[in-house]
Amino acid sequence: MVTSDYHHIWDCCCDHGLLGCALLIRKAANNIHFVDIVPELMSELEQKLCLFYENSSWKTHCLNVTNLPLAKYEGKHLVIIAGIGGDLMIKFIEAIFQQYKILNIDFLLCPVHHQYSLRQKLIALDFSLKDEVLVEDNQRFYEILLVTSSSENHYKIHPVGSNIWQAKSEKQNEVTKKYLKKTLNHYQRIQQGLQLSSSKDKINSVQHIINAYHDVSL
Ligand SMILES: C[S@@+](CC[C@H](N)C(=O)[O-])C[C@H]1O[C@@H](n2cnc3c(N)ncnc32)[C@H](O)[C@@H]1O
Repeated sequence: MVTSDYHHIWDCCCDHGLLGCALLIRKAANNIHFVDIVPELMSELEQKLCLFYENSSWKTHCLNVTNLPLAKYEGKHLVIIAGIGGDLMIKFIEAIFQQYKILNIDFLLCPVHHQYSLRQKLIALDFSLKDEVLVEDNQRFYEILLVTSSSENHYKIHPVGSNIWQAKSEKQNEVTKKYLKKTLNHYQRIQQGLQLSSSKDKINSVQHIINAYHDVSL
């Protein structure tokens, strides 16, 4: 999903930096930026990059993703955030968007949980969809969304996804079926929990999500 349209790719919350390194090897952009908030991780990664990727164009940034210095670098940016909760991802995207409203930034997002609330936030910010896929890996499911802060010429983001349910093979059809079942079970369990303890408003808000997933046709 990473095309060659970008001058700068930001591997945010990069941890071990494997994703950014794969992009370096592929020469996916002129500049690959590695960002993580943990100093020890970043110095270890920097040593590795000096050793193995001396002649490539990379930079490490030990900072909070909310403070990405995008304006310092000219050109088209792709911000990748993967492997963190959708709730934290919402905070990062909101902070970046508030600082760089005039830039058209693409985001490649792979949240762990809270996919529905992440989609709600992207819709509220008027982002648009460029592509989305559903991946099963090691019995876990990942929604991967390529979105842009520009609302022009692209598709609307659907609250529960659109393309991710359009399987093009028998194998992918099995994946979508399993993911839909798992997601519905998850929200139904939340609803049951709320019925025992909580207010009608909260129960209704979960019913709203369950209805949206019930509407998915495979
Ligand atoms: C589970 S790893 C994700 C690794 C990789 N992106 C992946 O998908 O496999 C989460 C990383 O996010 C980093 N992180 C958490 N909060 C952060 C923040 N506010 N700014 C930058 N990095 C952060 C952590 O230090 C950790 O290395």
